[in-house]
Parts: sequence; structure tokens; C-alpha cells
Amino acid sequence: MSAEPLEIYLEPQDLERGLRQDVRAGLTAEAKWLPPKWFYDSRGSELFEEITRLPEYYPTRAERAVLAEHAPDVASLTGAKTLIELGSGSSEKTRLLLDAFTRRGGLGTFVPLDVSVSALLGSTAQIAADYPGLRVRGIVGDFTRQLDRLPTGGGRLVVFLGGTIGNLLPAERADFLAAMRAALEVGDWLLLGTDLVKDPSVIVPAYDDAAGVTAEFNRNVLYVINRELGADFDPEAFAHVAHWDPDHEWIEMRLRATRPMRVRVLDLTVEFAAGEELRTEVSAKFRPEGVAAELRDAGFAAAQFWTDPDGLFGVTLAQVR
Ligand code: AVJ
Repeated sequence: MSAEPLEIYLEPQDLERGLRQDVRAGLTAEAKWLPPKWFYDSRGSELFEEITRLPEYYPTRAERAVLAEHAPDVASLTGAKTLIELGSGSSEKTRLLLDAFTRRGGLGTFVPLDVSVSALLGSTAQIAADYPGLRVRGIVGDFTRQLDRLPTGGGRLVVFLGGTIGNLLPAERADFLAAMRAALEVGDWLLLGTDLVKDPSVIVPAYDDAAGVTAEFNRNVLYVINRELGADFDPEAFAHVAHWDPDHEWIEMRLRATRPMRVRVLDLTVEFAAGEELRTEVSAKFRPEGVAAELRDAGFAAAQFWTDPDGLFGVTLAQVR
């Protein structure tokens, strides 16, 4: 079957309005910030794919090892009819699940949801070609906002991989999990990937690689704002920073102004002092008991918790109770 046309719940004008709101809120704040979702234009999505292949960036390989080992368990325990993937990107690791479901039989529909049209067009066409008989319905949307647009009916498995839930702050995470619970029915399943707390000497290089790909990915958000909003950032005048916050147990990516700058964006003039930092991403790391507790608070019961052999990355299978 060929993939169905993308269902678009996030029109270019909604995206641009969201970007304008975030830029205004983040760049007028006392401590400047931008949300990480604006990294992912087609160039940013490509840079992220490149990050996943870097020697220092262990999460993708570790999560893939978990899925390679346990995808058959996910298929048999859930017996899902519909697989929904949030923040699907290339859906590369999800193929391990699709393979297991294909062997088991019974999965009818795959629904990847992502903000990136370019990533979805590529992934849906390829998956439809490679899994004959599978209905592939790509949704262009924001996983924090379009949960009410997911296909209804029981037998659903929602997968949220890569540790992307760590990009949400704790209160946002609680809201997100509650909204997900509200979109699902008792008995539906959630497969959640979480990067685990470990020595910062392992975590920090994953966010500050020797080849500088992560630095380029980080600065890409400024190129996006220049292009979409006609801003005049000089992205190369910002240095990439990966900072481990031991109290929150999260990585912060920041862009540090290497000289004083004045940037025109929207109707704003934004001043940067030399050395001033703009926070562009939080990537939280988790402890197994913390993941289970957050899921429980949101109305899920954790059924399985798996890690890779090195214990770097956790994948939790939970059921709506
Ligand atoms: C795609 C959100 C899981 O937080 O590790 C990679 C994004 N940022 N390098 C992560 C990212 C810097 C990534 N997620």
C-alpha cells in the first residue's frame, strides 16, 4: 500500500504563529530561552540524524539495542492493532517494532506524528513500501498539542522514543502524560524511551561531540529564526555549550554570545551581553523509579522496564489503568 496523504493539523501559519510567540516569550525573558522544537527544519532534522550516528551519542544505539531485544515482547504483550508514534522523525528504530508486529500479525495501522513534513514524507513512503498491507497515516502535528487528534478505538500502542520526553520540563511532562492518558482508553499501551542518569563524563560528550555536529544543530535554531522571521542573528557568533545540571539531572544546551550583540527580530531589539547564554534545550535524564512514579501519577501502570546491556537507556512499557 502507498502511504495515505499526510493529515495536517499544524499548518505552516500555525507553526509560524507558534514560533513568533515562543521567540517573543523566550527572547524577552530575564534568562533567555527558546524551545527545542524549532531545531527541526529539514536541515535540523538531517543534523539530528547525523548526531544519532556519532560515536559520543549513545542514546540511539542503546535504545535500538533494547528494541532489538524486546520488540517481540512488545508485540506479544500488547497485541496492538494500531501503533502511534509521537515525534517520529525518521522512524528508523520503530522498524524493529513493525518487524515484530509483522511476524506476530494483527497490526493494521501505523500512525507517525511529527512537526517535520520533510521527515514524515520520507518515512511514510518508505514504511508503506516496506510493509505491504500496513495502513500508514502520517500526521503533521505537535505531540504536546495534537493528542486529541489521534485515531480512536482500543488496541492502541503509543510509542514515544529517543528520550524526547526529557525535552519537557517536569510540570510540562506531567501535563503531557495526563493529556496522553486522557486521549487513551483503559487497556491501551504506552512505550516510553528515557535516557538514564549516569556519570556526566558519558552524558556531556553526547551533547558536545568532537566533530561539532551538535554545535551546528544547536545554532540551526538561529538560522531557522532568521529565515522564518527575517531576524538578523549572526549564528556563528554564538558558541555551543552543553551544561550538566546535577540538581535537576538534566543537560542544558545553550548558545553563548561571544561578543555583545543587538539582534532585530519581530518588533524587538534583543541585546546580548558578551558571554550571555540563551538556553535552547533541556534534556532530562531519568531514574527507573522516577519514570514509574511519573507514569503512575498520570494513570498508567508500568508493566515492563528494559535497559540495554550497559544500562544506559531505559524503555518502559506501561498500560492505561
Ligand atoms: C531527540 C530530544 C532525544 O535530547 O538527546 C540531541 C535531541 N539534542 N543532541 C536529545 C538532541 C542534542 C535529543 N532528542
